[in-house]
Amino acid sequence: MSKKILVTGGTGYIGSHTIIDLIENGFTPVSLDNGINSDASILEQVEQITGVKVKHYAVDLCDYDATRSIFEKESFDGVIHFAALKAVGESVAYPFKYFRNNLNSTLNALELSKEFGVKAFIFSSSCTVYGNVESSPVTESTPLMDAASPYGRTKQMGEQMIQDTIAENSLTKAIILRYFNPAGAHISGLIGEAPTNQALNLVPVITETAIGKRPSMSVFGTDYPTRDGSCIRDYIHVMDLAHAHTLALKSILDDQQQIPIEIYNLGIGAGASVLEVIHAFESVTGQALNYVITERRPGDVVAIYANYEKAKTQLSWEPKYNIEDIMRTAWDWEIKRSKL
Ligand code: WQD
Repeated sequence: MSKKILVTGGTGYIGSHTIIDLIENGFTPVSLDNGINSDASILEQVEQITGVKVKHYAVDLCDYDATRSIFEKESFDGVIHFAALKAVGESVAYPFKYFRNNLNSTLNALELSKEFGVKAFIFSSSCTVYGNVESSPVTESTPLMDAASPYGRTKQMGEQMIQDTIAENSLTKAIILRYFNPAGAHISGLIGEAPTNQALNLVPVITETAIGKRPSMSVFGTDYPTRDGSCIRDYIHVMDLAHAHTLALKSILDDQQQIPIEIYNLGIGAGASVLEVIHAFESVTGQALNYVITERRPGDVVAIYANYEKAKTQLSWEPKYNIEDIMRTAWDWEIKRSKL
């Protein structure tokens, strides 16, 4: 019998790509999303890619009663909790919106998973929990510094909720996945990053500028203490990220994980600066990008990239894609998206 997995934020960017990987690995995903920053029609493309029609609940995870009724109706072997607002800069402007949405949704997902005996709880965390680290690469034992933004704070608090509630004897085991910078699109070009709100992350801003949706883009500061003055991040292809979730799920459901909670960094261990990402786009597409250099963005971390050895050894996870693959797939998707 195929194991049933609840994917909160299932119509979102990483959620939809993970649903594809779950299906391709024999799982039965069930999507839950309130559509605050995504469109459920993406599941039609998921069906086109996989041949599977995914059950979807258009429900707000912050609505405890509505979410509980889904746990009463279904029987989940695992929960992957993606649903969250995730723009660092936006969280600085709207902290209460971020605390309310990201904490209440995590509380409900975690409490109901425990109450209904869900075996595996996978939490979508972020490298932003490390704060403004002094050096990189960071490992999972790098001490967490003060979060640089309310978004990063909500992920630190989400991790704490898990540490405080998943005990030695609980049936539910948990895995915390700390993503670095997810980017790129599915190799088919049929799905990709498609926020219903204006894109704020670097890679979609680049492709939207290149296709003419924006007259130009800003590089938020080139006066940082880095090799070219712009911030450094570890960009990980969304398909690599998606597969890591499947491997994490298997490590609990196949009884490999012995301890209640494991934490894994998910990055490719290579840092790329903002200007280097722009140049990678230009070299992959042969298209010059119109950008201006502006002030720093509040909440930005100077430089951070991953040591992912733990995921490599314990989950047998190995990223397959690099920054050029990210820019190529992101650009293919932007071109297709503009014709939809
Ligand atoms: C990257 C760099 C910006 C836009 C992301 C996700 C967050 C989390 C961590 C998963 C920064 C610069 C950006 C622009 C720019 N991931 N930039 N001009 O802030 O690292 O956070 O990764 O949970 O969810 O948001 O990503 O893409 O916003 O910024 O210069 O128009 O690009 O200043 O240095 P960030 P980002």
